This record gives sequence, structure tokens and C-alpha cells, in this order.
Amino acid sequence: MENHPLPRLDQATALRRQLAPWCRIGPGEIWEDPSSGHRVGCLRADSAAEVQELCRPAGAATLAIHDPPYNFIAFQRRGAADYAGWLRTVVDNTAAELAAEASLYLWIGADQNNGFAPLPEIMMMMRDSGFRSRSLITMRNQRGYGTQRNWMSVRQELLYYTRGNPVFQPQYTDIPKKVKGYYKQVAGEVRENTARGRAETIRAGNVWVDIQQVFYRMEENVNGCFAQKPLRSIRRIIEASSRSGETVLDFFAHAGTTLLAAEIGGRRCLTMDIDPLFCEITIRRLEHFRRTGRTGWQNSNPFAVELGQIAG
Ligand SMILES: C[S@@+](CC[C@H](N)C(=O)[O-])C[C@H]1O[C@@H](n2cnc3c(N)ncnc32)[C@H](O)[C@@H]1O
Repeated sequence: MENHPLPRLDQATALRRQLAPWCRIGPGEIWEDPSSGHRVGCLRADSAAEVQELCRPAGAATLAIHDPPYNFIAFQRRGAADYAGWLRTVVDNTAAELAAEASLYLWIGADQNNGFAPLPEIMMMMRDSGFRSRSLITMRNQRGYGTQRNWMSVRQELLYYTRGNPVFQPQYTDIPKKVKGYYKQVAGEVRENTARGRAETIRAGNVWVDIQQVFYRMEENVNGCFAQKPLRSIRRIIEASSRSGETVLDFFAHAGTTLLAAEIGGRRCLTMDIDPLFCEITIRRLEHFRRTGRTGWQNSNPFAVELGQIAG
């Protein structure tokens, strides 16, 4: 089988130089999709002016899904309080662009190296942000992080906030409702768990055990990316917290997962990344999907033609 992996693109200095000429946009620039109006900016989420530039007209988006770099701000390691302060700037920039009735999801990283555990600081920071806390979701990773001297870290936290009264549509897993024995009286009649539900499968709660973490053998894998979220997780959020045709924000595009999920779900996506290479990958992932129906490159990579690994 053909296999064309790439190293982590944020750290591969020589390869970054080689790929730079193929990046369509550089710092401060925005690419606009001519067919669906998606936008990808090479911009900084912590700059109010750059966020405004991407989100014109303001107030159109009803959902933001942010997956910020974890423990690094502008590529420097910081403490939890500094990190939460930086994230507040991103949240304020987002608040300025969202509709009055809107949802905000924040992914928090999984790794606990160097005692970095900013969840309390982030939850406190959000208290007076204008958003109401609705849930703390845990997604179970299959692969763990950490040493033999601690509990392996397999959880990925996702904070869910709203303001106003935005849409929420329950989502269902593929897990069949098998467990019997949960009786409840409904309209005077005692009914079994499996008989009284509206669906054959279990409704997604705030612990997600049914989503496969991305790894190299999956179609959606994007080689060169190191923090790619499962497409299924972003699709679940989009289906729950937005309606068809609405606009979704993601200020940390990376592998372009939110853009792709929005495309599949019939939403418009406004997204950005500080790094021109990840902006290019985001645009290519959308084009690749439209051309081939594939959600990623599995064993190949977004630049395999330019790198002479496969024929153009
Ligand atoms: C954790 S990844 C996002 C992963 C993404 N959800 C996915 O599924 O592919 C974080 C991304 O944020 C980008 N980034 C870091 N600092 C940024 C900033 N100030 N503004 C915008 N993007 C930034 C990084 O280049 C990286 O690609």
C-alpha cells in the first residue's frame, strides 16, 4: 500500500520552507469560497480587528467551535492563569461577532504534562463572559497520554455555553438501547426503558464514548496535522447547535475539520489559522472532499503531488 506520511508540520522547518510557495494566503489575507461563501483567513484569533475582518457582516454566526492551542500562546508555554486570560480575549472577540442567540463550544486539551490543568481557571474566566454554562462534555480518547506514574489521560474536555435561547437538537449515538430494567410511569402506564424512547439508539449525553479518535488508518486522517479532532464530534456539535444554512465560526482551523463538517451539514463556515500552512490544508481538505468525496488523505497527504510522491 502507498504510504506518504508527513511529520508535524509546525515543527518541520525545512519542509515548511519547501511548502511555503504553495500557500495561497499569507498573514492578514482571506480566501473566500466562490460556491458556498466559506472563508479561511490567515489571522490571529486574539486580534479583534482581524476577527472582525473575517466575520463580516458581524452578528451572522449562531455557533462558534474553538479548539485553541493548548498550553502554548504564540508558541510560548504559559501558566494556567495567563492561558485563561488569553482565551478571554478570544472569547470576547467571538462574542462581538456572534448573533444574540448563539452557542459557544471550547475544547480543552487532554495532556497533563508539567501540571498544566487550566480547566478551573477557564470555567471561572467564563463566569462573567456573557455566556451561560450549559454542560461540561467529556470525549473519551482511545489513545492515552502520560507516563506510567500517573493515570493515563484519555479524556478530552469540551465546554458548552450559550447566550439567549439558541437552538439545541438532541443527537443520537449508534449504540442500541439494549439495557432493560429502567421502568418509569408515563401517562399512568409503567413503561420499560426500551419501549418509551423516541429512538432505537441511545441519545448522546455529556460523556462521549462512541467517537473514534483520528489515527493514520482512518480516511479522515490528515498527515502533517497533530491535533485533528474527529469529524464526527464536530458534526455532532453542528447538528445539535445550528440550523441548516446558518454560519459557524472556528478561529483555530488546523486540519479544517469544522469547515468540512459545515460543508457536509449545509452550513457556512468562517475560519482562520495563524499558520499559512494550516490555512492551505484547510482549503485543500474542502477541495479534496468536493473532488473525491473523501474526508482526508489517510496514508497520503495534502501536498503529495507537489512533493513528487504521487502523479498530479
Ligand atoms: C488544536 S489545533 C485545532 C485543531 C482543529 N480543531 C482540527 O480539528 O484540526 C490549534 C490550531 O490553532 C492555531 N493557532 C495557534 N495560535 C493561534 C492564534 N492566535 N490565532 C489563530 N490560530 C492560532 C495553530 O496553528 C493550530 O493549527
